[in-house]
Amino acid sequence: MINFSYRKDWLNPPWYSSYEKNNYGDFFYALMRVYQPKKVVELGTKAGYSAFHMARGLTANGKGKLDCYDLWENYKFNSVPRSLAEKNLKKYKKIVSLSLRNAIGVDKRYKEIDILHVDLSNEGGILEKIIPYWIDKVRQVIILEGGSKEHDKLPWIKKFKKIPVEKWLADFIRKHPNIEHVTIEPFPSVTILRKNE
Ligand SMILES: C[S@@+](CC[C@H](N)C(=O)[O-])C[C@H]1O[C@@H](n2cnc3c(N)ncnc32)[C@H](O)[C@@H]1O
Repeated sequence: MINFSYRKDWLNPPWYSSYEKNNYGDFFYALMRVYQPKKVVELGTKAGYSAFHMARGLTANGKGKLDCYDLWENYKFNSVPRSLAEKNLKKYKKIVSLSLRNAIGVDKRYKEIDILHVDLSNEGGILEKIIPYWIDKVRQVIILEGGSKEHDKLPWIKKFKKIPVEKWLADFIRKHPNIEHVTIEPFPSVTILRKNE
């Protein structure tokens, strides 16, 4: 039987993350181990759950940096103060940077990166303002939160008449036939996008 006691260390910080329920931390860790990226960018960090697990993977690799962007206390909906992310990611401060700024336009700061993770309370409108600007700058994969039908049933997507991620994704793939994608379904779901050169 597998012993999961090593996970006890991760339960202490309050993460406020929908990724926790189905242990997506293991997915983010594995992604870093498989791809061995040098530069990872995360748009939407909140208390740092996904960043923590990516940093754990980069540390095990012995190389790689993670740049995180979030509006934290300046976000008008649901987030946490940047100080909480700093506290939760303290162990990895040599390889993780935290920048408080709007994720829209962050692409201009980079020529090329290896992996991008986008988790901005994802819906079609925000993804359209982000993904097209990164698609030619990401060498390995883009990971975005969402893509399943269950994700698009989140009450705020309907209430605020947002474009479901699944619909945005279908339109995006139609416009970019050279992009492969796969969605991992357990809630909240993640979609992996990769350019097929
Ligand atoms: C779902 S949370 C991120 C969760 C995190 N990745 C985790 O593993 O728990 C979404 C975050 O996106 C941030 N956010 C939303 N829109 C943003 C924008 N335009 N620019 C920067 N951050 C934004 C919010 O402040 C919030 O912290």
